[in-house]
Amino acid sequence: MEKKSIDWANLGFGYVQTDKRYVANYKDGAWDAGTLTEDATITMSECAGVLQYAQTIFEGMKAYTTEDGRTVVFRPELNAQRMVDSALRMEMPPFPVERFLDAIEQVVRANYAYVPPYGSGASLYLRPFMFGSGPVIGVKPSTEYQFRVFSTPVGPYFKGGAKPLTIRVSDFDRAAPNGTGHIKAGLNYAMSLHAIVTAHDEGFDENLYLDAGTHTKVEETGGANFLFVTKDGTIVTPKSGSILPSITRRSLMYVAKEYLGLKTEEREVMMDEVSEFAECGLCGTAAVISPVGKIVDHGKEICFPSGMTEMGPITKKLYDTLTGIQLGRLEAPEGWIREIKIK
Ligand code: PLP
Ligand code: COI
Repeated sequence: MEKKSIDWANLGFGYVQTDKRYVANYKDGAWDAGTLTEDATITMSECAGVLQYAQTIFEGMKAYTTEDGRTVVFRPELNAQRMVDSALRMEMPPFPVERFLDAIEQVVRANYAYVPPYGSGASLYLRPFMFGSGPVIGVKPSTEYQFRVFSTPVGPYFKGGAKPLTIRVSDFDRAAPNGTGHIKAGLNYAMSLHAIVTAHDEGFDENLYLDAGTHTKVEETGGANFLFVTKDGTIVTPKSGSILPSITRRSLMYVAKEYLGLKTEEREVMMDEVSEFAECGLCGTAAVISPVGKIVDHGKEICFPSGMTEMGPITKKLYDTLTGIQLGRLEAPEGWIREIKIK
């Protein structure tokens, strides 16, 4: 199959409609067989659970072309499991892990022409999601659901690629203690929209959210976890029950320890200690590792020694190692790379 003629190197993080998507429906207590469809639209009840009470969850993952021309996805079973966890918290019927993996495979294969070539810096972003499609007017879970996976070729999440970001400490909260911050529910993102729009209006790239309970501890941004590097080269990441357990962050902590021989700590990070770190990065599927150069905390600027022009040296090593694994330049830990055979 020929690749599409797309200016891969200049893609941003946007929606490009691709040829096929996977759809399965849940009704009368069971998921149907599921199928690929060319129809990129959805028709449902005006009273659907997703439309009335935001009963929707999603995942985000990427397919890549490796140096030797294989098409691969990165640790998809972790996305499948996280979606099960999200579904249970939202009173939705989990989509089975094996079926999730099969759906991903079908979508990548059907849209092979849109998987960006090796070296382009782009990837095929996969968006599995599930929503309450049946009518509900009392506040309760829907009895009908749709699971869907579409794909779209993407470039860097942040404009400017690897240029260090400037972020602000937000006065808005992202997630409550004992709320839904640890799952990938659409509602977490709906409530961050005002914060991101106002951050952009004020010239910031993103928000740093503090813990909602005390406003003293670093949580995460709207779409990525934090990694900090201490002056003596230890990788520190915030531990909290109300942040998303990022697959990229979990992978980077492993890479830091096992590939780079660095010390790693997952612990509470006080906002007060952030000015002592040497480097800061945002990590996630979309963000990969995006360096942060400056954090503005109510007018007080925290400027990391790594500066505003390049990634810090340890952030760069983490970035090169992770992308090296994803693109097949470095040997991956057992089970991290799932090849999708294109027939
Ligand atoms: N935190 C939030 C709020 C996110 O939306 C994401 C994106 O998925 C992440 C962190 C990063 O998670 P992952 O590395 O699994 O993509
Ligand atoms: C991802 O990294 O896949 C996400 O879902 C983050 C989103 C804000 C684009």
